[in-house]
Amino acid sequence: MAKIIIEGGNELSGNITIGGAKNSAVALIPASLLCDGEVTIDNVPNISDIDALNEILLYLGATVQRDKTTIRIDSRTIKNKSIPQKISKKLRASYYFMAALLGKYKKVEMYFPGGCKIGARPIDQTLKAFKALGAKIIEDNNKYTITAEELKGTTIYLDMPSVGATINTIIASCKAKGLTILRNAAKEPEIVNVATFLNQMGAKIRGAGTSEIKIYGVEKLDSCYTEVIPDRIEAGTYVILGALVGNNLKIENIIPDHIKSLTSKLTEMGIPLNIDINSITVSKSDNLKSVNVRTLGYPGFPTDLQQPLTALLTQCVGTSSITETIYENRFQNVLYLNNMGADIKINDKQIKITGPTPLHGEKVTATDLRAGACLILAALKANNTTEIDEIEHVLRGYENIVEKLRSVGAKIKIIE
Ligand code: EPU
Repeated sequence: MAKIIIEGGNELSGNITIGGAKNSAVALIPASLLCDGEVTIDNVPNISDIDALNEILLYLGATVQRDKTTIRIDSRTIKNKSIPQKISKKLRASYYFMAALLGKYKKVEMYFPGGCKIGARPIDQTLKAFKALGAKIIEDNNKYTITAEELKGTTIYLDMPSVGATINTIIASCKAKGLTILRNAAKEPEIVNVATFLNQMGAKIRGAGTSEIKIYGVEKLDSCYTEVIPDRIEAGTYVILGALVGNNLKIENIIPDHIKSLTSKLTEMGIPLNIDINSITVSKSDNLKSVNVRTLGYPGFPTDLQQPLTALLTQCVGTSSITETIYENRFQNVLYLNNMGADIKINDKQIKITGPTPLHGEKVTATDLRAGACLILAALKANNTTEIDEIEHVLRGYENIVEKLRSVGAKIKIIE
């Protein structure tokens, strides 16, 4: 396992350019299998989750060309083979291949997906949608064999607006017969990105970005070019960093509207933000007001940003709270923040953070992707040196994080 060593306590200034959204790119790549030609996807982030999906593409026999930020995928050469557990468990998004292979071949065999251990993360809503479309599902020891004579459009009501189930239903029903109506759908920008991509191929998806999505089945999907939207979670993480230790830190290549729930909170805390069309510039300020945050699906406050935000809340005057409503186990960063000098109490789904408290360097562990991001932020604020273990979790979702931070003045290095 690799480690990151950070010497904290200095101001960061300059520009950080945000890459393509992890949670879009990881869906666009499996969705590309529906195409009866070659697709080109640009602005693909350089993260290890993309390497894992690439491995699945190559395993299935797709022809893949990848350079810096572009991936070209020709799936005409693929064979619909059973996807082994050792590759499906590398990431959550591997299960978008379930939908793509089912949609294309009416048969798929693969194991339960992986992903950060932040809660139970069942896949019942995806399976419910597949069944409603006409699929039969056999589960044996975490292996799913899903088959259908034909997929037929129908109305599906999700029990909760799940991002994964929404994307899987869209992908699986693109080539189904007739109309599929998905109600209580998730509204995240990544879903709009996936629907736009499929529409560029010739699909007929209407209403993505709202809670009711209509998918009119089509027979054929053709070659196209698309771009991954900027990563709103990477953007939000660096904006929080700017509020913590920035001196005119400019976060660019972003869609500020996508992180309005964060920027409104920062404004409530008394942090001046210079918001432009595709950038936000931010500096640290003193006497930050404490705030209360509740995580919700888009456009609410994203669960993926509550851990990075916790690092900043340790510097607010008074007691702030975060209520996590999406995952049961997303406070694993708290133990380590407290070891670094924070005053945080956990009560079931809520934490209370009392500040401001000075932070000091410690040996800590990145238990999951966003917990790791939180600890990096805290370490950059802390006095002296922090050593963060299991940094692979962070490299799954933050592209070139060491290089990006170094370029704005951070003293950070990675040791294998
Ligand atoms: N849920 C169910 N059954 C399902 C699906 C979801 O009970 O069939 C529950 C989950 O357990 C969770 C809630 O519904 O409590 C929301 O889960 P959702 O399906 O929306 O999450 P996901 O698709 O597994 C994606 C992102 C996560 C992000 C969430 C919420 C990807 C690959 N992952 O997960 O990203 O936290 O949406 O926005 O898109 C991250 O990037 O760090 C990350 C964990």
